[in-house]
Amino acid sequence: MKLQIQHLLGLEGVSREDINLILDTADMFYGVLQRDIKVVPTLRGKTIVNLFYESSTRTRISFELAEKRLSASPLGFSPSTSSISKGEGLKDTIRNIEAMKIDMVVVRHPCAGAPYFLTQCTDAVIVNAGDGLHEHPTQALLDMMTIRQKLGRLEGLKVAIIGDIFHSRVARSNAWGMKTMGIDVTLCGPPTLLPQHTDSLGVNVTDNIDEALDGVDVVMLLRAQLERQSSAVFPSIHEYRERYGFDIDRLNKLKEDVIIMHPGPINRGVELASNVADSKNSVILDQVTNGVAVRMAVLYLLGGGGGEM
Ligand code: CP
Repeated sequence: MKLQIQHLLGLEGVSREDINLILDTADMFYGVLQRDIKVVPTLRGKTIVNLFYESSTRTRISFELAEKRLSASPLGFSPSTSSISKGEGLKDTIRNIEAMKIDMVVVRHPCAGAPYFLTQCTDAVIVNAGDGLHEHPTQALLDMMTIRQKLGRLEGLKVAIIGDIFHSRVARSNAWGMKTMGIDVTLCGPPTLLPQHTDSLGVNVTDNIDEALDGVDVVMLLRAQLERQSSAVFPSIHEYRERYGFDIDRLNKLKEDVIIMHPGPINRGVELASNVADSKNSVILDQVTNGVAVRMAVLYLLGGGGGEM
């Protein structure tokens, strides 16, 4: 089976068939990761450059681990110690790296559209690891893998995504992907942190947390991205916590088997109470575990992997 897409730039426009193929392949790699020997030879000989222009813990480590588990050759790249610090632009950077014969590029960049721009400058396969406020497709794929693993299906579920929606590429990728998979998605946050034009996303949008939580199967909390905010968009952390923070009282009003998600990093005690983050309903570390399997699946399917598993 082959993907219809050639690069993974975002989940907008990606078909249900492609998402199902990635999730089914990720389930298979999840099985591989339970073995004593977790390495398969499927991308042996392929060189993958990890071009991270923004900080990352989970995404960067899990891509590198996924590449090693697939027997590819990963190359790290740090802007601060590269010729970017001398003023070299993205186009020259990628064309020089490509001249050294690489096969795939995983890119995180502060500018929306940077992964698409790279597809215009190189023949290498491009995978978006987060671009500005635009998309973070592998995060949404690992989120959907985790939901399917815990609740057995995606179609017909109710998901509330709560927090700083405006600055969240995770919210955007999940809105596109979950809508494609038949999930009823509600985005919720303070009015100043909700995007103005949400009609094209085709999801529910509200600033009322009780409305968003009504009958949900999944609650996903998002961090207030203070580093991306140019002005104060809520009066105080205390007020944010009171109105939009998810605590044990809010958890106790929901279904017993509701699952609590967060893409990380968590502001404990702000958007999510510490005892809820560590509760039996929390699947936050399962999301991180599944990130390796999802990224193996994406690299394998786009990289033309084959052979023994
Ligand atoms: N979820 C996520 O993208 O985390 P990092 O920024 O640590 O990669």
